[in-house]
Amino acid sequence: MLLAPLGIYRCIRPLRPEDIAILQMWDRDPDIRRLTGKKFSGRESVEQWWGDFLRDPHRIGFAIIDGQGNLIGDIALEQIARRTREAELRISIGDKRYWGRGLGTEAMRAVLEIAFCKMALAKVYLRVKPQNHRAIRAYLKTGFHKVGRLLGSGRLKGHGDVILMEIDQQTYQGWLRADSAGRGLTPVG
Ligand SMILES: CC(C)(COP(=O)(O)OP(=O)(O)OC[C@H]1O[C@@H](n2cnc3c(N)ncnc32)[C@H](O)[C@@H]1OP(=O)(O)O)[C@@H](O)C(=O)NCCC(=O)NCCS
Repeated sequence: MLLAPLGIYRCIRPLRPEDIAILQMWDRDPDIRRLTGKKFSGRESVEQWWGDFLRDPHRIGFAIIDGQGNLIGDIALEQIARRTREAELRISIGDKRYWGRGLGTEAMRAVLEIAFCKMALAKVYLRVKPQNHRAIRAYLKTGFHKVGRLLGSGRLKGHGDVILMEIDQQTYQGWLRADSAGRGLTPVG
């Protein structure tokens, strides 16, 4: 786990070992799995997963919490590449009662601040299924744009197509300027 200084964010906090069993439970939910794929192999213990997570220099992860501090999901930067200054974002709100209430967007804004302002990354990208309209809308609101579509053929046969989205540091800074002027970023489809 790469340590990034964590400021005070309302909606995220560092992951704790006691969160993992709950994340594993959500990972077994067919609705979540359909949208996000599998995070856990299902064979590893909490201790194993936590140990691997702490040792992994290419990943940082956070819990997403509600206003009372309850765990509702998780968000991570993975595949962190220091040379190219890129990382992949993954997010999942496991507690479905919180879908569509703005917390996913808020959590992504916090993690993008860490990525661009604290870790000095140049680009954050993500993969999303074309039918995941809620997620795509949340990503567009956060400043990501679509850059391509990976076809579910060849090696990816049977997995369905995947949309690739990204945001770079410059776009993020532009978004911040627009946001502080009260205009927000105009999403482009
Ligand atoms: C994707 C996810 C992180 C988004 O977080 P969220 O807190 O639910 O999203 P937000 O409330 O911030 O934004 C959702 C937006 O999508 C819109 N939306 C909701 N359902 C929609 C639908 N079926 N079609 C189109 N837009 C939809 C909402 O109206 C909202 O847009 P608005 O603010 O302009 O009204 C969260 O829903 C989640 O974890 N879902 C399950 C796992 C998942 O899909 N992870 C992503 C895998 S790539």
